[in-house]
Amino acid sequence: MGQEQSLAGKVAFITGAARGQGRSHAVELARRGARILALDICEQIETVPYGLGTSADLEQTVAEVREVGGEIIAVQGDVREPADIAAAVERCREAFGVPDIVVANAGINSQRGEEPDPHSAFVDTIMVNLVGVWNTVHAIAPLLIERGEGGSIVLISSTQGLNGRGGDGSGAATGYTASKHGVVGIMRSLMGWLAPHSIRINTIHPAGVPTAMVAHEEMMNWFANNPEGGNMGNALPVPMLDPIDISRAVLYLVEDSGRHVTGVTLPVDAGFTAK
Ligand SMILES: NC(=O)c1ccc[n+]([C@@H]2O[C@H](COP(=O)([O-])OP(=O)(O)OC[C@H]3O[C@@H](n4cnc5c(N)ncnc54)[C@H](O)[C@@H]3O)[C@@H](O)[C@H]2O)c1
Repeated sequence: MGQEQSLAGKVAFITGAARGQGRSHAVELARRGARILALDICEQIETVPYGLGTSADLEQTVAEVREVGGEIIAVQGDVREPADIAAAVERCREAFGVPDIVVANAGINSQRGEEPDPHSAFVDTIMVNLVGVWNTVHAIAPLLIERGEGGSIVLISSTQGLNGRGGDGSGAATGYTASKHGVVGIMRSLMGWLAPHSIRINTIHPAGVPTAMVAHEEMMNWFANNPEGGNMGNALPVPMLDPIDISRAVLYLVEDSGRHVTGVTLPVDAGFTAK
């Protein structure tokens, strides 16, 4: 505790919150007083070459949010399934009310050494990273409009949402870059619709963060097969960012600091994109 309760009375709906960046966002928003609805699939998707979040991971997020004095409801659900999102939104409304803040963070990255099924890798990536973001926003934005008290929606893209560096023709890499660019399209398309209702929508574009998504052997194999990967370093002398660096950007956008910021693609990337 001891933090300014800048988000007291607010409710945040965070996807992919079982671990990694999503967990960090949940803890940091809770630390500032927001009540949290944490959604995660807690199941494996076949084309993903590393373990996705588990129920135990989601329980750990619950524990860490409670440790900072926060309130949280954790729901297992798949962002690809509108019914799962609807059920989570309903739980949120019953317990806390309509979410004021949405962080569409759930994502997969299936880049690997040898790709057994490029088509499935591409389609699954688009389904989670793009359709899942659309499902999330589509379920909540009309509720925000109806309530008439504004809101802040943050879509987690990637540096791969702003450029195509490192592309190798694989279904996973192409799907990842296409989906993360697509997230910008969702944001830009919805911005003008939401703005008259004082609902802001922005994207964040992190450079590499050493979460379970990238810290695994198949990702190392992908880099080994892609010499271009060697040119993918950040401009600042930091190999990777920490989840807290991305959480601070989320906070900037959802707190009063971001009250006039909408339609923005915000790189948090140690200069990767500008290099
Ligand atoms: N780690 C990086 O280097 C990096 C860089 C830029 C952007 N990102 C993006 O940041 C976001 C968070 O990733 P992370 O690094 O914390 O990885 P992570 O794998 O630790 O976390 C992602 C979470 O999303 C969940 N998830 C996956 N598919 C889901 C689905 N269909 N429905 C619900 N939940 C699902 C996973 O179970 C996992 O808990 C992702 O959108 C990712 O693409 C990551």
